[in-house]
Amino acid sequence: MSAEQPKPNSQDRNSAPAASQMWGGRFARGPAAIMEKINASIGFDKRLADQDIAGSKAHAAMLARQGIITQADADAIRDGLDRVKEEIDSGAFTFKVELEDIHMNVEARLAELIGEPAKRLHTGRSRNDQVATDFKLWVRDALDRADQGLKALQAALIDLAEKHTDTVMPGFTHLQAAQPVSFGHHLLAYVEMFGRDRGRLRDARARLNECPLGSAALAGTPYPIDRFMTAEALGFDRPTANSLDAVSDRDFALEYLAAASICGMHLSRFAEEIVLWCSAQFRFIRLTDAFTTGSSIMPQKKNPDAAELVRAKAGRVIGSLNSLLVAMKGLPLAYSKDMQEDKEPVFEADDTLALCIAAMEGMVRDMQPNVPALREATDRGFLNATDLADWLVRELNIPFREAHHITGRAVKAAEDKRVGLTALTLEELQAIEPRITESVFPALSIEASLDSRRSFGGASPVRVREAVAAARERFL
Ligand code: ARG
Repeated sequence: MSAEQPKPNSQDRNSAPAASQMWGGRFARGPAAIMEKINASIGFDKRLADQDIAGSKAHAAMLARQGIITQADADAIRDGLDRVKEEIDSGAFTFKVELEDIHMNVEARLAELIGEPAKRLHTGRSRNDQVATDFKLWVRDALDRADQGLKALQAALIDLAEKHTDTVMPGFTHLQAAQPVSFGHHLLAYVEMFGRDRGRLRDARARLNECPLGSAALAGTPYPIDRFMTAEALGFDRPTANSLDAVSDRDFALEYLAAASICGMHLSRFAEEIVLWCSAQFRFIRLTDAFTTGSSIMPQKKNPDAAELVRAKAGRVIGSLNSLLVAMKGLPLAYSKDMQEDKEPVFEADDTLALCIAAMEGMVRDMQPNVPALREATDRGFLNATDLADWLVRELNIPFREAHHITGRAVKAAEDKRVGLTALTLEELQAIEPRITESVFPALSIEASLDSRRSFGGASPVRVREAVAAARERFL
């Protein structure tokens, strides 16, 4: 039977299903069909196949080295597991729901292929430490995948920022035009956010990297196993220190989901900006046909669907974190079957995050900033008001609070005239503050305003050019 579509009733109704070969010693008959259905995880945990096989190979090699099984058995197990892997990779493997999960599917097929030695593989381990090990290996790869994806996205952002260090645009607070910034500076803000996301992934990886294998069911094992050997073989820094904790810990999955959720939130914020920027109201960027769709009724439409979907899909990742937190929060030590529900949220988050990161990189590479529209937008909303206040402080030694007040009156005067600050005459400005001179006007140009913000981390093109180089150095 295929694991994708388990039949509601997998056994002939008239004959009692057989007890499990794996654990059915004290069971007279097999599970009810609905029990089998709720219990089986093979439909999703088949994604752990590679990790399960790697874990079993490391375990078998260790058992032989420690004299717990013979080298001949370990060799047979290793070769058999390679054949199982080939079958899985080629699609020839038949996953069986009645074998519950990936661990028992692999072991049962191994037994079919090599017989007796396969039955010695499960010495000194349990599915509890086995699944914790497999899942850690999987999450470790997921952390590395997300890191690589974000690095590529950062590269796309840095490339675009480099072309637009001098492109001026309005910076916003409260989505109200605030002060001019460089478009490159705006993009580099996201480079920082994704850089912190990568830092969180790295932190999670470092904490994850202890090997649960050999913790067995919950208490360790009487066999003289070498947990340091298996830990090293699987690329872990060391074995976990407490067997109870090792089989019941899912912090590593939660940390991955938390880091992924924060990253999803960042991707969503950027997606939201792309949606705004593409609108006729902003016209800040254009996306080509490659990243837009049309409307079936409104011929003028070019919709930024990919950005909208990234914005929505972040919710799935955040939902996955929530699912697992709720699943874990009531569990006593050690393993409980609830923990089988840890995998789907992580798989879902990984699929979603990879797709969203790739779509975002595609959009950044596709995006064409509308330089004239960005510049023109800085003419609305008195973006140089702070510059007038700063000029009053600098040139006339007026205290900033007072300068702020004088500038407010100038903005009001310009608003009444329906013009920008630079379109006020000197006489009009002097009616508000008599000491203002002609030399105020150059300081009020948008370009001067942008150029003046030269503090470290500021929006001035001089700083942004340095920031582009520094970002390449730090992140790529
Ligand atoms: N499929 C199980 C899981 O994913 C494997 C561990 C089962 N352990 C057990 N004691 N039933 O959690």
